Amino acid sequence: MFLEDLQTLPWQHSIAEWKELGVKHVHVKRGVGRHPIVFVQVGRHVFVVKELGYEDSLKEIANFRELLNRGIHTLIPVGCVMREEEPIEVDTQIGKRYERNRVGHTLTLLLDRVIPDSQLYRRAFKFENRKRIWDAIIDLFVELHSRGIYWGDASLANTLVKFLRVDVPYIGKKVELKAFLVDAETVEIHDSISDSLRSTDVEFFLESMEWINEDLMAEGILRDPLGTKDDVEYIKAQYELKYEANARLMEFEKRTGLNVQRLLGKLRVPVEVDLLQKQIEEHKWYLNERGEGQFDLVEAAKRWHDEVFVPVCRLFSEEEVPRFFPGKTASELYMEIMTHKYFMSKESGKDVGMMKATRDYIDRFSTAGPLASFWIAFTKKMMKIVGIAETGLTGISK
Ligand SMILES: Nc1ncnc2c1ncn2[C@@H]1O[C@H](COP(=O)(O)OP(=O)(O)OP(=O)(O)O)[C@@H](O)[C@H]1O
Ligand SMILES: [Mg+2]
Repeated sequence: MFLEDLQTLPWQHSIAEWKELGVKHVHVKRGVGRHPIVFVQVGRHVFVVKELGYEDSLKEIANFRELLNRGIHTLIPVGCVMREEEPIEVDTQIGKRYERNRVGHTLTLLLDRVIPDSQLYRRAFKFENRKRIWDAIIDLFVELHSRGIYWGDASLANTLVKFLRVDVPYIGKKVELKAFLVDAETVEIHDSISDSLRSTDVEFFLESMEWINEDLMAEGILRDPLGTKDDVEYIKAQYELKYEANARLMEFEKRTGLNVQRLLGKLRVPVEVDLLQKQIEEHKWYLNERGEGQFDLVEAAKRWHDEVFVPVCRLFSEEEVPRFFPGKTASELYMEIMTHKYFMSKESGKDVGMMKATRDYIDRFSTAGPLASFWIAFTKKMMKIVGIAETGLTGISK
């Protein structure tokens, strides 16, 4: 177990001396920061030990735990270790007073396979590539803020980015770029936070890019500056958009009892929430029309999930359709076709129907794949599942 291994470390000494004392260090490039930090191998694990005030360390560990409870991507805390040093002498009017001098250690597990800063920020990095990193960081902000968490020290130095494999149950696997919060001393956890605290976090983060530019310039490293006007505009606009969309999504999940995140991964455009809502309402209407009785939104959502969403996704997987749309899962394809239908219908001023929308989507976006006959057969199968509801809606019999 961890604990026995950890007890072998020389906690009575400052971590700066550990190397001389024979503790096995692991070479990890760390971001800029104020505190001494070591990466050490003990047993099978690599631990990260940060030395700081005892109270701060206790708070940081508690914060990491609560962040994890709330589903935030952050470090895995192991615990806090305290070392007591000679008391500090304080002169007061009535003589000397001694204060306890307790040093804390924040102990976390190494977050491995992160993309090193040297790759992320130091290379001349095109705006298009940077956007992927901004997207991951914006998602982290949205995760935090929508769960009532204020970071208080948001910066590139306090964020690690890595590729993570995300499994969507029976629907597909995806590799996503994810940003992790790695410095939790200043984190404040509330039920909800104000708009002004949210923007304080974002503004602070944008400012932090200036410091990196200055640091790198001082080190004589040349590359495109971060935090350009394009970066700033992109981050601000995307953050607000995603925060809004997420707020609506959470409200929608509350009303329908659906866990959309689990079903779809993440939503890309706010209109997807409306489309889901519309589909569920249509399904509710359809169930009612078919004489199955009145359903409330929660019941109708469950029926839509079981009778439409899951079978369609299963069909996509069985027919191996995601192969022709690289990087997309079955559930994403489903949502994209729905979104495509929405925009096509909007443009033509009437409901274009699933069949037409699906074919048009395939024509436009699939890579060269099977013959048209495959798509025709596939679209028919899809219509069998979705089409019933559509037929019911439009009143056209098949
Ligand atoms: N568990 C971990 N896994 C991988 N890297 C880590 C881990 N903990 C810390 N690091 C690296 O060490 C750096 C410094 O850690 P941290 O930000 O907690 O300390 P600090 O910067 O000294 O604190 P402060 O920001 O309060 O000054 C991080 O930016 C990160 O690069
Ligand atoms: Mg830091």
